[in-house]
Amino acid sequence: MTHILLRFVHISDTHISHDPNYVSDRGVHPTRNAEALVAQINNLPFKPDFVLHTGDVIYNPDEAAYEKARTVLGQIRYPVHYLAGNHDSSEMLQRVFLQRETVQPAYHYQFEVNGVQVVCMDSTGPATPPSGTVIDDQLAWLRSITEADDPRPLVVAVHHNTLETGVPWLDTFMRMANGDALHAALLPARHRIRGVFYGHIHQNSQTLRDGILYSSVLGSWYQIHSWPGQTETTLEPDAEPGFNIVTISTDQTHIRNHRYSV
Ligand SMILES: [Fe+2]
Repeated sequence: MTHILLRFVHISDTHISHDPNYVSDRGVHPTRNAEALVAQINNLPFKPDFVLHTGDVIYNPDEAAYEKARTVLGQIRYPVHYLAGNHDSSEMLQRVFLQRETVQPAYHYQFEVNGVQVVCMDSTGPATPPSGTVIDDQLAWLRSITEADDPRPLVVAVHHNTLETGVPWLDTFMRMANGDALHAALLPARHRIRGVFYGHIHQNSQTLRDGILYSSVLGSWYQIHSWPGQTETTLEPDAEPGFNIVTISTDQTHIRNHRYSV
């Protein structure tokens, strides 16, 4: 029997606006959906160790949106770890949303829960939006972790999709511009990496490369297709939002995809 080390809830792309009436062109309301997500998390029939939000906390960087997001996501009754997405400002995320006195140029950090090391990256470096990059200093920091003689299971989180998939929309429009460099920096630790968790594409998907599993999650706002051959952003009409429950054990990773109605 595998020994469970931790369980966390993977959420992403809440896109909360300062405007309570803001909706997508299909009438999907980001704040209402985020409030429903908070209710889902707070009513789970078990106690997760933490919640991981892989970025795009708000719709566009403005302080009022982060204040609104604080009131909505602040209701989650478990610890929440946040990443910056392309719709975020790393600076405002730290200063306004997280109320940090010291602001890092890029918001990357690590922590440990139940013997599992968790590394959160900031992929909002220079690139043509909605792409992004992980800047060189951050890659060097990541290599110091992945090349260390460290036996702990390792969980990695980043906002953007890292690898090519053969879907033009994902590969040439959405993907991190230096995704290959990120994957190369992870390789030395592939024996202990339990997953690379990301958002951005508003869809569940899994990619396994060199023994490293990349797993994305639905947004809490609207969902987007990623069909083979797709070149344009193509919404998935009427698709429900969702979240993933991730269970990390001594010898495996289990991911359960959930959807919910608003
Ligand atoms: Fe994004």
